[in-house]
Amino acid sequence: MEQDIVALTSKAERSAVQTMRGTAVEFRQISKSYGSFEALKDFDLTIRPGEFLTLLGPSGSGKTTTLMLLAGFEFPTSGRVMIGGQDVSKVPSWRRDQGIVFQSYSLFPHMTIKENLAFPLETRGIARKEIALRTQEALRMVKLEQFQERFPGQLSGGQQQRVALARALVADPPLLLMDEPLGALDKNLREEMQIEIKHIQERLRLTVLYVTHDQEEALTMSDRIVVMNEGKIQQVGAPVELYERPRTRFVAEFFGDVNIFLGSVEASEFRADDESFTIPVCTGAPEGSACGAVRPEKIEMHKWGERPAMNDSVEIGGEVVDVIYLGQMSRYTVRTAGQDVVIKCMAAPRTRHFLVGDAVLLSWQADSFVLLEQGATT
Ligand SMILES: Nc1ncnc2c1ncn2[C@@H]1O[C@H](COP(=O)(O)OP(=O)(O)OP(=O)(O)O)[C@@H](O)[C@H]1O
Ligand SMILES: [Mg+2]
Repeated sequence: MEQDIVALTSKAERSAVQTMRGTAVEFRQISKSYGSFEALKDFDLTIRPGEFLTLLGPSGSGKTTTLMLLAGFEFPTSGRVMIGGQDVSKVPSWRRDQGIVFQSYSLFPHMTIKENLAFPLETRGIARKEIALRTQEALRMVKLEQFQERFPGQLSGGQQQRVALARALVADPPLLLMDEPLGALDKNLREEMQIEIKHIQERLRLTVLYVTHDQEEALTMSDRIVVMNEGKIQQVGAPVELYERPRTRFVAEFFGDVNIFLGSVEASEFRADDESFTIPVCTGAPEGSACGAVRPEKIEMHKWGERPAMNDSVEIGGEVVDVIYLGQMSRYTVRTAGQDVVIKCMAAPRTRHFLVGDAVLLSWQADSFVLLEQGATT
């Protein structure tokens, strides 16, 4: 903390803290085709100044394409890209003020770390003294001052990625684009870097467009997440919103384990097709066939006979058929008359330790049941 405050005393960083440096970004009615293939369709999105926004989706969903349009390495087939209120749809990358970090570090192997950082500043014709100052600041930001005379080949993968980040930030851009920057790192280092990147972004008030297909990474880092599939936006929202209130089955299933129940809605009540339960849903929910979701950790599990005293809850009997120990939690599969249900419980309390073959009662509250949009049941 102390160090952070000291690091903030440099001129560039002080001014960054005082003013909102991040710029606004807008994608307006974008479509992008490669030949006859439409990689993005009806793509409308606003990124707020200083916001950390993540594109999340499976392989081929159009994440990199979106980032390339903002970077100016690709251009929209139709629609407009706006940065800070200016139409940049036809502006090439080298004329845009932004930093970019890719999965591959793309550092110059024959230059030292310091020279790698100085390079983008030299090409802009910045004075030597200023270059030395900014290079030192950027190195301090990623905690690599002691490695500045080394060559990239003499650094670990994580350190090289830090250099790539410092190089993206050295010219003081208001906008930072990152495409799977941590994809090549192991889990521990990835988690460490996630937090570091997030801190730097918050400190500098940068606008960030971040690409990942790792849902945990997206949940950890983002102010908002855009879930994409087949070139279209499925849902945009804060992490908690997407996890707790997914609109479609695709989004619900993208964020880890979820139980999906098929059924129908009638008179503000969802009735499971297998008749295992009914549950109230919000008034005005469209009637007819429907689909709902319950997260495994929202389900309580009790030994059969130890009935929980809960109002307004679903109760279903079943038998434990699978137990997976996950450390902090255990993941159980329970066979009910209708379908197998996945439950996750904290491992600690003795009362919640169950074995294969145990007869159990499952229960969950009505507000844990999320009704998914009609037509999105497959
Ligand atoms: N230059 C290109 N020419 C033709 N098709 C392309 C080109 N670039 C991307 N595509 C296609 O556009 C679709 C979206 O690609 P994109 O790279 O944006 O996906 P992505 O979401 O970044 O996937 P990944 O997670 O695998 O990186 C894919 O089907 C891809 O094959
Ligand atoms: Mg990609």
